[in-house]
Amino acid sequence: MNELQLELKNQLEKYRLQKIEPYMEHDDENEHFRMDIFQELGSLGFCGMTLPEEFGGMGLNYQDFSVALTEIAKSSVAYAVTISVSAMVQAILNEFGSNQQKENFLPSLTSGHEIGAFCLSESAAGSDAASLQMTAKKVDGGYILNGSKIWITSGGIAKTYIVMARTGGEGAKGVSAFILRDGTPGFTYGKKEKKMGWKVSPTRELLFHNCFVAEENLLLSEGEGFKVAMAALDKGRFTIGAIAVGCAERALDEAISYSLTRRQFNQAIFDFQGLQFMMADMATEIECSRLLVMQAAKDYDRKSPNAKLACMAKLKATDTAMKVTADAVQILGGVGYTSEYPVERFMRDAKVLQIVEGTNQIQRVVIARNLKKEYTKH
Ligand code: CAA
Repeated sequence: MNELQLELKNQLEKYRLQKIEPYMEHDDENEHFRMDIFQELGSLGFCGMTLPEEFGGMGLNYQDFSVALTEIAKSSVAYAVTISVSAMVQAILNEFGSNQQKENFLPSLTSGHEIGAFCLSESAAGSDAASLQMTAKKVDGGYILNGSKIWITSGGIAKTYIVMARTGGEGAKGVSAFILRDGTPGFTYGKKEKKMGWKVSPTRELLFHNCFVAEENLLLSEGEGFKVAMAALDKGRFTIGAIAVGCAERALDEAISYSLTRRQFNQAIFDFQGLQFMMADMATEIECSRLLVMQAAKDYDRKSPNAKLACMAKLKATDTAMKVTADAVQILGGVGYTSEYPVERFMRDAKVLQIVEGTNQIQRVVIARNLKKEYTKH
């Protein structure tokens, strides 16, 4: 970690312990998202870290951003995810938006005044994203959207939505990407999901009924929406990995602290070799995950994004978070299963990390496709 990253980490550690941690148990139970926390993180610069300063960002790189997400996730996976998905929306606008689109939509997102949401999944199009059915029919001056989106992170609390809809025939080439604002006539919210974890972060269905979106809100041109979505996921996937590292680190932290003080059979349970080996493996897997995440981020920062490595980082880090959080509950024993300690919350939050932004099976599909390409190139 360089000096700047250490400074960011320390600043965020102080902030999360004072301002996020005290609310987490209550807010998890009550499924309560605090906009003031998000906006305060925004005013400190953490909601637009990787965007250029001219659009209100901090002009930092994805390695710095990964360090920040890991730190926030140590108190709240939910706020880290809200920031990471909103950053994906910003990256899309910055990379593919026109100057006008950037000026119109970026500053309120980079400042953390508003949240962005990424809308690809539908009830019949999850892993097979290119089969999405929502339609965008060309009319004078714009498009009419009809259909629905499901499992949308920050649905209802976000103000700017990147929505993928079909303007052409079947498959990836028929998909276009649009910028939608909360409050657009014909755009409403459906059911809010009751979830196992990520309870502070709302996940909601979006409904579009004859919703008019102006032509100037189309990103790039018709048929380029799938590439926009995939390119965004290339970054989103390793940032989910960074969050998973924080989630796992916190669980290990709790397991070590507890096992050093909990005594059974006249010794700290940490001193049983069976538990030591578990914690040594947990720490090793976390470091492997962090290195993969940072390498994927570094490749992106060097302008040579590597989809295979991004998928590997997401796969390794989120599987690690699941294993480490479950092991932490095991080490804490009975109390680990109660909300007296936060490990059960981190275990619930870890599960969906293996599912969002492409299930870990899809990560393996992309990794394998890339391997085949490399081996059959010549
Ligand atoms: N960058 C740019 N373009 C890409 C790309 C990438 N990383 N990956 C694929 N493409 C392009 C391809 O080149 C191809 O274009 P051409 O034909 O012009 O070459 C086009 O996109 C179609 O690609 P594929 O043939 O590979 O498409 P596919 O239908 O086989 O699907 C898939 C590929 C990887 C399985 C994809 O469907 C996928 O990623 N599925 C998982 C969906 C997903 O991740 N959903 C996450 C929802 S969002 C979320 O969870 C966020 C949240 O709220 C927390």
